[in-house]
Amino acid sequence: MKAIILPEPGPAENFQLKDIEKPTPQKGEVLVKVKAISINPVDTKTRDGKAFYNSIKESEHVLVGWDIAGEVAAVGEGVEYFKEGDAVFGMVNFPGNGKAYAEYVAAPEGHLAHKPADVTYEEAAATTLAALTAWQVLVHQADIQPGQRVLVHAAAGGVGHYAVQIAKYFQAYVIGTASAENADFLKELGVDEHIDYKSQKVEEVVKDVDIVLDSLGEENTLKSLATLKDGGQIVSILGGATEAVQEQAKKRNIKALTYLVHSSGEDQAKIADLMEAGELKAHIEHVFPFEEMAKAHKQVETRKTRGKVVLTVD
Ligand SMILES: NC(=O)c1ccc[n+]([C@@H]2O[C@H](COP(=O)([O-])OP(=O)(O)OC[C@H]3O[C@@H](n4cnc5c(N)ncnc54)[C@H](OP(=O)(O)O)[C@@H]3O)[C@@H](O)[C@H]2O)c1
Repeated sequence: MKAIILPEPGPAENFQLKDIEKPTPQKGEVLVKVKAISINPVDTKTRDGKAFYNSIKESEHVLVGWDIAGEVAAVGEGVEYFKEGDAVFGMVNFPGNGKAYAEYVAAPEGHLAHKPADVTYEEAAATTLAALTAWQVLVHQADIQPGQRVLVHAAAGGVGHYAVQIAKYFQAYVIGTASAENADFLKELGVDEHIDYKSQKVEEVVKDVDIVLDSLGEENTLKSLATLKDGGQIVSILGGATEAVQEQAKKRNIKALTYLVHSSGEDQAKIADLMEAGELKAHIEHVFPFEEMAKAHKQVETRKTRGKVVLTVD
């Protein structure tokens, strides 16, 4: 099968297209013939030897990636919910070794969900790691409630554009940060209030927030405390809830913590339901053929992507 291997960590040019052996699904695993893959900032950091490189480096062929959509080609012993020919999607083995940059991926069945019929493979692949992060942070971690005020940083990005839609689904009032170029995009997503982070200081203009989703790191987490109500919560997905931040937060009974997304077929199925109901849509900014993985990584590394970057696999 075709695969994009990473012989050495480093720049995107290190990727090589290679023919390697197809995986065999083990007990409880589903073999997926991949049709589309999505790329996240964690893919680029891992490729560069950081993030989860240590979790993938021992394989015979080092493959990056976690987000897939495709068709079930075979099932291992004991698989209950999927059969050959089913259209599926999910984030495979995260955090761990997803080996997603390949024509075939062996995935635990508990990491997948059925793809809704009217959602494309590209849209499905795009709505995995980033959407699961937004879902798990807002629903499991923050227990979002109707009427709450939610501040989503980087609202035009992969995680952000899903977080806005999920918060609106829960009838929250949503404030989103983005540059002026993304003002219309945020409005289309349903954002109630756009903060242009280049010309406005969020900590001065936003108040009385119940939940902040931070994806920018410690400096941003710290300044966002000023936007929160006493007793509110801030969830950072970029290690922002450091000891110093937690100390400040405690003084106002604010819960500050860092969250890491994990594979979950159950959560993926909830996301599939929202997609089927038209409540959650992927915005795909760039689609590349599988062979152009390096270009896809470079696009994600601009930190200017609106929505998601996807590759198609023939
Ligand atoms: N812990 C976890 O489980 C987890 C899960 C997913 C992602 N993450 C991390 O979260 C971060 C975001 O991920 P992502 O997939 O959403 O990234 P992304 O799609 O690459 O984000 C790009 C977006 O960020 C916006 N942006 C850049 N600088 C900004 C700023 N200073 N203020 C507001 N918006 C800004 C850009 O909007 P403009 O063009 O308008 O600036 C762009 O739309 C990454 O570091 C990623 O590794 C962590």
